[in-house]
Amino acid sequence: MTKPLSIAVAGLGTVGGGLLKLLSENAEIVAARAGRPVVVGAVSARDRTRDRGVPLSTLRWYDDPVALAADPGTDVVVELIGGSDGPARALVEAALKAGKPVVTANKALLAVHGAAIAELAEARNLPLAFEAAVAGGIPAIKALREGLAGNRIRRVAGILNGTCNYILTVMREHKREFAEVLAEAQKLGYAEADPSFDIDGVDAAHKLAILAALAFGRPVDFGAVHVEGIREVSALDIALAEELGYRIKLLGLAARTEAGISARVHPCMVPTGAPIARVDGVFNAVVAEGDFVGRVMLEGRGAGAGPTASAVVADLIDLARGRQTPVWGAAAGLLDGAPAVPMERHVGAYYLRLMVLDRPGVIADVTGILRDHAISLEAMLQRGRAPGEAVPVVLTTHDCEEAQMRAALGRIAALDSVLEKPALIRIEPL
Ligand SMILES: NC(=O)c1ccc[n+]([C@@H]2O[C@H](COP(=O)([O-])OP(=O)(O)OC[C@H]3O[C@@H](n4cnc5c(N)ncnc54)[C@H](OP(=O)(O)O)[C@@H]3O)[C@@H](O)[C@H]2O)c1
Repeated sequence: MTKPLSIAVAGLGTVGGGLLKLLSENAEIVAARAGRPVVVGAVSARDRTRDRGVPLSTLRWYDDPVALAADPGTDVVVELIGGSDGPARALVEAALKAGKPVVTANKALLAVHGAAIAELAEARNLPLAFEAAVAGGIPAIKALREGLAGNRIRRVAGILNGTCNYILTVMREHKREFAEVLAEAQKLGYAEADPSFDIDGVDAAHKLAILAALAFGRPVDFGAVHVEGIREVSALDIALAEELGYRIKLLGLAARTEAGISARVHPCMVPTGAPIARVDGVFNAVVAEGDFVGRVMLEGRGAGAGPTASAVVADLIDLARGRQTPVWGAAAGLLDGAPAVPMERHVGAYYLRLMVLDRPGVIADVTGILRDHAISLEAMLQRGRAPGEAVPVVLTTHDCEEAQMRAALGRIAALDSVLEKPALIRIEPL
C-alpha cells in the first residue's frame, strides 16, 4: 500500500473525539476506500490531561493549534476547534499558506470568512473541504456540488438546526411553550447553555450561506442572509397551523429569482403532507431543486460525534485519493455575480394571528388595512366567542410582497382592538 495520509487534528471535543474513534474503529475500511491508511500524527486541544477515550501518547501534541500548520510530518490539517475567528481562523490560514490542504467542520468560519479563505486555497490550488460544516452527517455538500453538478439549481432549502427542530417538535407533540421546552433541552444537552446561536437562527444562517454559495456557484455571502429565529413561535400558533394543515419548521431557503439570489432563515409553515414536514426531532434535511433532476431530499443526523466524524472522513478519503473540486463548485473566475435580493422583495403567502377584542367592526378594520396594501385573503379562522374579551383571529393571505405585509402589519398592530403583537409566519409550498 502507498504512503499513509498523515493528518493533524486541532480540537478533540465532540467532533475531534468522534474522528479519532472512527479512524481507529474503521481503519481498514477507510484505508481500502482511501487507497492508503489515514493516520493521525499530531493533535492539539487546550487540556492535555483530559481523557479523550483514545490513546494520544504516541501522537505529537501541540499546545498551540496554529503550530500544527508547520508540523513537518503532516499532510492535511483538520480544524475542529470552532468559531469564526481566533485560533480556528489562524490555523486554517496558516495551513493553506504552508501549502497544506485543510478539512474543517467550521460553518461559522466559512460563512463569515469563506470567500477570502477559498481565494487563499484556490490561489495555491489546495483543497479546502467542509462536508461536516453543513447538516452534519448528511452528505449535502457533495450532493449539491458534485452529485447535482449538471443542473441549474433553482432552490435549496432545509432544516439546518437540530436544536430548533427538536424544540418545535416537542412543542407540537406535547402542546408546550417555547421557554419551557428550551430549558428542558438545555438540561438534556440538546441545547447549549447560551442557546442564542441556535434559536436565533444564526447557526442555520451560516449553513444556508454555504449551501447557497454551492447551489448557485458564488462566493459565500453571510451578510445577505435574512435571519429570524424561533423565540416567538407559540404553542397556540403551532396548534392553529395544524388545524390549517401546516407544520411550523425553522427553514433556511435560498432561491434564484429573476431579480437575483434570495437567502432567508425564519419559521415557516409547510404543508403537513410535505416530506420535510415529517422531519422531526434533532434530524436535519436538505432539499434541492434542479432543472433536470427535479426535487431531491436528503435527511439525517445534523450533529453529534458519529455523523460529523463520518462527514470529515469522507473529505479525508477524497484528499487521500487526490479528488479535488473548486471550493464553490467552479473556478473563481467563473463564479456567479447575481445580486442578493433583500427580504423586503420576498413574495409569498402569510399566516397572521391576532389577539383581538371580540367586538363588532374589528375584522372589518383589519381586512380594510390589508385591502389598502393590496393583500388578498385566502382564509380566515376565528375560534370561539367571548364578547368584550381577547380571541385569536387567524388570517392567511395569497402571495404578496413582504414590504406590503410589513406596512400593513404596522397599522394592524396599532389598532386599539389588537391586544398583543401580531404573530406573522410565512407559508412555504415545499
Ligand atoms: N458538535 C457537533 O455536532 C458539530 C456538528 C457539525 C459541525 N460542528 C463544528 O465542529 C467544530 C467543533 O465542534 P465541537 O462540537 O467538536 O466543539 P467542542 O466539543 O467544544 O470541541 C472544541 C475543541 O477545540 C479545542 N480548543 C478550543 N480552543 C482551543 C485552543 N485555543 N487551542 C487548542 N484547542 C482548542 C477544545 O479543547 P479542550 O477539549 O481541551 O477544551 C476542544 O477539544 C465547530 O466548528 C462546530 O461548529 C460541530
